[in-house]
This record gives sequence, structure tokens and C-alpha cells, in this order.
Amino acid sequence: MYRTNTCGELRLTDKGKKVTLAGWVQKSRKLGGMTFIDLRDRYGITQLVVEGDAEAELLSAASSLGREFVIQATGEVVERSSKNPKLPTGDIEIRLEKINILNRSVTPPFTIEEESDGGENLRAKYRYLDLRRPPLQRALALRHRLAQEIRTYLDSKGFMEIETPYLIKSTPEGARDFVVPSRMNPGTFYALPQSPQTFKQLLMVAGYDRYFQIVRCFRDEDLRADRQPEFTQIDCEMSFVEQEDVLETFEGMMRQMFRNALGVEIANPIPRMSWYDAMDKYGSDKPDIRFGMEINEFSSLLKGSGFSVFDQADYIGGICVKGCAGYTRKQIDELTEWVKRPQVGAQGLVYIKYNADGSIKSSVDKFYSAEALGKVLEACSAEKGDLVLIMCGERRKTQTRLGVLRIEMGNRLGLRDPKVFAPLWVVDFPLLEWSEEDSRFYAMHHPFTAPKPEHEALFYSDRKEDLEKVCANAYDFVLNGTELGGGSIRIHDAAMQSRMFEVLGISKEEAEYKFGFIINAFKFGAPPHGGLAFGFDRVCALFGGQETIRDYIAFPKNNQGRDVMIDSPSKIDPSQMEELYLASTFVEPQSPQEQ
Ligand code: AMO
Repeated sequence: MYRTNTCGELRLTDKGKKVTLAGWVQKSRKLGGMTFIDLRDRYGITQLVVEGDAEAELLSAASSLGREFVIQATGEVVERSSKNPKLPTGDIEIRLEKINILNRSVTPPFTIEEESDGGENLRAKYRYLDLRRPPLQRALALRHRLAQEIRTYLDSKGFMEIETPYLIKSTPEGARDFVVPSRMNPGTFYALPQSPQTFKQLLMVAGYDRYFQIVRCFRDEDLRADRQPEFTQIDCEMSFVEQEDVLETFEGMMRQMFRNALGVEIANPIPRMSWYDAMDKYGSDKPDIRFGMEINEFSSLLKGSGFSVFDQADYIGGICVKGCAGYTRKQIDELTEWVKRPQVGAQGLVYIKYNADGSIKSSVDKFYSAEALGKVLEACSAEKGDLVLIMCGERRKTQTRLGVLRIEMGNRLGLRDPKVFAPLWVVDFPLLEWSEEDSRFYAMHHPFTAPKPEHEALFYSDRKEDLEKVCANAYDFVLNGTELGGGSIRIHDAAMQSRMFEVLGISKEEAEYKFGFIINAFKFGAPPHGGLAFGFDRVCALFGGQETIRDYIAFPKNNQGRDVMIDSPSKIDPSQMEELYLASTFVEPQSPQEQ
């Protein structure tokens, strides 16, 4: 046996026990003839001590230890004279009798402690060393715990875990596919699944009425803090259900995960908001409802007073920021520049200050009387000391910009505490989204999503205005301003599915080529069905109080989609290219010296 205990386990109650620990040397230091060693494993850190008068062999082993050496250490648990309240094992130390060096280590490129001195790139290159650090170990432990909770819950509700293939045909989630050339079928390619969407629907046709899978998905899209090219979904599908059954089932799963993994009770029931309300009040289809600061429309109050920017605008709206009337000219200018950045895209920002003394000051004083401005303050329930920030322009675009500003002000005012959890279902999405650029409709969720039963007639209308009004039987699970999951009740009728392809401008031939298998399957008694998928990496990160998912994935990619540890993606051998009938047209850019 290598060890009797882990490095996170021993307490004062173990005093006097003879133990053997195994782990990595985090630190070793000499102090007044004694050697102190911090020994680490994934359970914690225990202090080892070698007395100055120990046997020569032990002293020599202790003095030869370097950072990250792997050792086995035997000794007696003793009470520490100077205790360390920051460590769970901080009341004791092990007075060593023997050290067995199991392996040596070259000096690690960065400190492997709670906080590291290594930069992001360096830590990514040595990910296996970074993974030794406690924050990452806690992150992966949380991921493991949540996966167990999910399996236990879904199993208890009769769900079967079924795997679906990775080498498939293009899926309809709307991102770019990663493709894999087929050697055995020259000139053809598999696509990696963006989700198992079509397969889970086929499983419903096959009669597996409750399916789930914790499954890897692949999307070739631009990366952000909450996006990776390969990520994991908790993918689920159910037969003989309506929207209400799906929401109830997964509300239960989330509630159990919060309770068992974090000891947190979330709202019961989880509130619901229509997509239209989310856009109007929060300027986002994933509102952060941890704080108010809702968007108000001021169009009727502010139009027609001779301020041409407002008079010509499609929409005027604003947010009321509590307690910020004291903002200086400089602060307002900075905020105005902030909203004009391309990432936000606003033309400008108008303010109304409702000063503590009751006076009103605004950047558009010239055009509006105090009474008119007072009406705006009233419309957004402003109180003395508040600051109202106003934008105008095309309705949805302006609301979205106000939504971005609202989140920024929420951050600046510390209203977005990661330890507060405010889940929300967003429902009643539009089924279709018109693209001016392409002059065609796109499916807002995906082309298998059914219209709400009461909107089916509209769905068969030929008028664009009617089709724009059709609501989808779709829902998103939102937590603290992040979309954690989404799903829908599906179309299960071949004729309705064909209508959907027609509305999306997908020809019969294209539909047949891409999705013929599923249209065909629907002819063999497809049950009514629906489901959803959660982004598991996002679930883990938010449960852990972070917005970045990278730390919750053992081996993630960087912002360029690269794994710098294994140096991937990389070129392949010319012979391999030949075998796959591939030729690259990529021309290496010249370096400045060569030009
Ligand atoms: P959707 O495309 O909304 O739905 O994806 C479901 C959830 O997956 C997560 N997600 C991601 N997480 C990390 N990196 C990414 N690149 C990424 N892309 C998506 C999000 C998202 O809410 N088949 C449908 C589900 C269904 O209808 O049942 C689907 O994939 O948290």
C-alpha cells in the first residue's frame, strides 16, 4: 500500500497515529535546523517536518527534495506548535521517520499553488501541471458531482442514457461543421455533430421515450468566454409530452442539482418570461434578473418636441440607474464613449439626472421643459438621486444596446453577485427570424421546432407579416444572464416538417439530401415529442461562480481554437493527405523579413 491517508484528511483527532502519505512536494523550506515540507495531493496539503537531529539518511533525503518531487513519507501525526487556520489539516503535522523519493521533477515553469505566477499561455502549454492546482481540481470535482446528480435524477425519472455517433452528416444547429474526410469513401466527408438533435428524434420514433446523454458536441464558431469548439451537452428528449411536462422535469433536475451540489434552494416555481417581454424589458433573450433596472419606452413622451434625433427615431427607451445622479461630466462622457464602441454600437447617450435636491438636469434641457423631463422620470419610477440613461434608434437594436448598458451598469454597481442564482425560463420565442441580408427566414431555434398549436394556421400563411408572428413551442433556461439550455416541442408530422423546409427556402431536393432520413422516419409513426439540451460546461462554470467555461474543462482550447499543449490543429503528412484524396490550397503568409 502506497499510503494510509490522503493529504487532506488528518486532523488533531489522529494525533499519535503512524501514517504514510504520498504526493507532490509543493514547497520545502529549512527553518532553524528543521525542514518543513508541504505535501500536496488532490485532497489537500499536509505539512511534514524533519527534525534537525533526524537520522543522516532522512536528513539527506529531505534536503534533496525539489518542487513537484513525488514522495512517500512515513511518520507520526503530531500537534503543531504554530497552527495554520487556513488549512483544514493546519492543526497537525507529520514528524517524519522516512522519505521515499518515488520520482523527481524538473523545476516546474510556474508555481503550482492556489494562485499561480504563470501566464495563461504557459499554463495552457503545461495544462497537466495547472490541473494540479486546487482551483482547477475543485472545478473538475464540481463537474464530476454535477454529472453524478444529473445521472441519478434522470435515471430516477426513467431516462435511458444512449450514445449516438460522432461521425455523422451535417446537423441543423446553424454553426459551421467540423468535417472529417473518409478514406474508405473517397471524396466524401463526415460532419461532427453540432448536437445529437436528429438522432434523439429518431430514438423517439424508435420508442425510447425518455433519452438522455452527456455528450460532446462540435461547432466551428468564433470563441468567447462561454464557447468552446467542442463542448458538452446534457441532451434530453421525451415522447408524449407537452411543453409543461418538459419544463417541469428539468426544473426538477436543476432544483436537485442546486440543492445537492451547492446547498442552494432556487425559486419555486422558476419564473417564466415571454421572449417579447425579455426583449422589451431587458434588451436580451437571456435576461439577468438578479437586479431590476428594466428598460422603459419613452417614445410617446419624448417625440415631437423639436429634438430631431428623437423625433426621427423609431424607438426611444432608457434605464433608470439608482443612486447615480452624482455622476460627473467626465463619468457621463466616458459612458457615452463606452456605448459608442463598435461592440455596443450606439450613436450616443442622453441623460436625465434627478438630483438629490429635487432639481432635474439633462443633456437635452434645451428641448424639454422640466415638466416634460419629470414625466420621463415618473415613467421609469425614478427617485431623487437617480440617473436615467436614454438611447434611440431602431426598436430591437436600441433595446439590445440598452440591455448591454444595463449589464455594464449592473457590473459597475456590483449588482451581479455570482453567489446569487436567479434562474428563468424564457418562452414563446418567434419561430422564424427574417434576414434582410439574405431575404429569407431562418429558424430561430432549429428547423425541427414546432409552432405553438394556436399559431399553426398562421404558419401556413404565405404572408411574411403572418409568419413573423408565429410563436415557437420553444423555451430557454437562463441563469444570471447566460443561456444555459434550450429546447422545443418538435414537429412530428412529415407534412408540417416539409412546410417548415418550404418556409425556410430549403428546396425539396436539398431537404431530401440533408434530412431525407428524418422526413422518412416520420412516416413510420413518429410520436409527439420534445426535449432540450443544457450546455454542461456553462452549467458547471455558473455553479462554480464563473463566467468562463475553460477552467471546467480538463483540456480546453484557447481563443484561437488551439490546444497549445499538444499543438493542435497541425499539418498532416503528405502521404496521409494523399490517402484521403486531399490537397491544401492554403499558402503560408510570408514573414516580414521575406517580403
Ligand atoms: P442549442 O444550440 O441552444 O440547442 O444548444 C444548447 C446549449 O448548449 C450550449 N452551447 C455551448 N456551450 C459551449 N460552447 C458552445 N460553442 C456552445 N454552443 C451551445 C448552450 C446552449 O444553451 N439541439 C438543440 C437542443 C434541443 O432543441 O433539444 C441545441 O443544441 O448552453
